[in-house]
Amino acid sequence: MNILVIGGAGYIGSHVVREFLDRGHRITVFDNLSSGLRENLFPEAEFIHGDILDYTGLSRTAKEGFDAVVHLAAFKAVGESMVNPEKYSVNNIKGTINILNAAVEGRIKNFVFSSSAAVFGRPEYLPIDEKHPTNPENFYGFTKLEIERFLGWYDKLRGIRFASLRYFNAAGYDIKGRITGLESSPANLIPVIMETACGIRKEVQIFGSDYDTPDGTGVRDYVHVSDLAVAHAKALDYTSRNDKSITVNLGSETGISVLEIVEAARRITGRPVPAKIVGRRAGDPAKLTAASRLAHELLNWTAEYSDLDTLLKTSWNAYQKNHA
Ligand code: UD1
Repeated sequence: MNILVIGGAGYIGSHVVREFLDRGHRITVFDNLSSGLRENLFPEAEFIHGDILDYTGLSRTAKEGFDAVVHLAAFKAVGESMVNPEKYSVNNIKGTINILNAAVEGRIKNFVFSSSAAVFGRPEYLPIDEKHPTNPENFYGFTKLEIERFLGWYDKLRGIRFASLRYFNAAGYDIKGRITGLESSPANLIPVIMETACGIRKEVQIFGSDYDTPDGTGVRDYVHVSDLAVAHAKALDYTSRNDKSITVNLGSETGISVLEIVEAARRITGRPVPAKIVGRRAGDPAKLTAASRLAHELLNWTAEYSDLDTLLKTSWNAYQKNHA
């Protein structure tokens, strides 16, 4: 297939591009490089340096005869979305409306969207399946849910078949070590731990040790980015073969605590990784885990590389290559 990957130079995007290339697809990456990196681009893929807020350029690209668009171009810092919602409204919502309209103009039938477990908000039960009520607790999650609603209408009115993939906590780096571009100023736990192991940060701050979890620290469902990449390929197979849209949760179905990750990182990196318990971060639930049965049933997808050691070893490999 001929696939346009918007945000294909980013952390998840570059892994998705690699997977599609490995499967023999023709890829064009469209990215404004605001957080994406040139070093994440592959010579086999065409690259267009463009912005989703420039509708003229975007619609010109969309008319180049693509079978599918994969959209991973969003801001994703939960805390920032609460203090600067305008930035998230414009880029995440307005930008996606541009992509949808350009897809209609370019007659692109299939759409794969990076959604998030943040659409659910505070869990009412665990593990979280697709029937769990959606009630985002942060503006970032709200933008993802709004986009899912747009997708539903464009399916009905314009025949765009979409796969909305609700990632839980994406982590790790390419299992074959082919992608090593690092995010700058990361706020997510595993990159923070890696930066501490490299000596870039003094210590890891553990946000709360008084949660109702076995060791008191927050529990999350970490899913390897190479597993997510495979899910994108399978989701596109599904929408194109069945002419049907889907919304699925993608997680490992395993809960891991902050403390467990810090301890495993000390073992795997052989570095001290100092950590200090500080107060809770606003808006963090105690525990989040996914039910990924639907992805298994519809896409024949299961997380293969999402065990803690693989998540940390592949991350450490990428960090060591950059900070040898
Ligand atoms: C959040 C979003 C998720 C989104 C992701 C993108 C929710 C419910 N989840 O995940 O959808 O895709 O951000 O960035 O909104 N922690 C520390 N110290 C740190 C950093 C994190 O203790 O320095 C803890 C957190 O309290 C949490 C866990 O580590 O328990 C994971 O945090 P993080 O990596 O930031 O991801 P989430 O907030 O779970």
